[in-house]
Amino acid sequence: MQFPYVFVDGEFVALDDARLSVHANGLHYGTGTFEGIRAFWDGGAMWMLAAVDHYERMHRSARILGFQLGYSVQELVDASAQLVRKNEVREDAYLRPLLVLGTETLQVRVHDLKPRLSIAITPMGLNYIDPKGVRCMVSSWRRTPDLALPNRAKVTGGYIGPAMAKSEALRCGADEAIMLNMDGHVAEASTSNIFVRFGSTWYTPPLHDDILEGITRSELFALIDEVLHERVVERSIDRSELYAADEILLCGTAALVVPVISVDERAIGGGSAGERTLNLQRTLLAIARRQDPRHPEWTVKVDLSLSHRA
Ligand SMILES: Cc1ncc(COP(=O)(O)O)c(C=O)c1O
Repeated sequence: MQFPYVFVDGEFVALDDARLSVHANGLHYGTGTFEGIRAFWDGGAMWMLAAVDHYERMHRSARILGFQLGYSVQELVDASAQLVRKNEVREDAYLRPLLVLGTETLQVRVHDLKPRLSIAITPMGLNYIDPKGVRCMVSSWRRTPDLALPNRAKVTGGYIGPAMAKSEALRCGADEAIMLNMDGHVAEASTSNIFVRFGSTWYTPPLHDDILEGITRSELFALIDEVLHERVVERSIDRSELYAADEILLCGTAALVVPVISVDERAIGGGSAGERTLNLQRTLLAIARRQDPRHPEWTVKVDLSLSHRA
């Protein structure tokens, strides 16, 4: 089931009336950028997690690609809240802002073409990736280097590699793919960042190892310190370190925080979900629903008492 309304170029329209031409440039060449934002229902209110950070990243992505977003961060946050109200959402959901070149041209370029901005919303529970633990495989597909594709921008066309990697992993009997970069260092999973623990230190690849600068990743920097009282070091990670790790987790907006229980059929942490990872998972979820007093600045409340047009 999908919610009935979407936001398109400044207006709320019925889902079936939100159209993009089959000749649209973005459909053919992946010339677009997008975000994913979770909204949580706590039984009485809807809360959007890190909406400001996501729209700030979307602005940066648009800048890298040379597109005009056309809306301020605050306008996009407000439009997202309005969308939640308009659809009368009272469950956990996922907002999908998308900026795509809509002009009908065969020319491969990013300049002088009209971007179309939409925000769609769909129900989303907590099992985008199994929160109890995933079996990973190191993919034969590499993460594209920044020289070939700006990973810092969340580019629609950049997802063909992760899609191939994910399908390969599923075909091989795993749940998720871990991609190496062109230097052979661990980059990230298909749609999530990775943290690896040895003792009381967590390691995560630095931004220059061709990862997306994940917003959940930055939240975990804070929570590993505040909840686990352990430290995080950004440094390149070798493939064999994955096999030797005491604990590994994946994190992302859709994934949230997920324990890795094996890599290439080698058990991690004895083959069951790591306690620290589960603690981080619980804490982030409680913060997202405002059931934990930490980091209220990460969430924006959707005022459901306002009218649909507010
Ligand atoms: C390739 C990739 N890496 C990492 C992430 C995690 O980023 P975030 O925590 O901002 O959702 C995502 C999800 O957006 C992703 O698609």
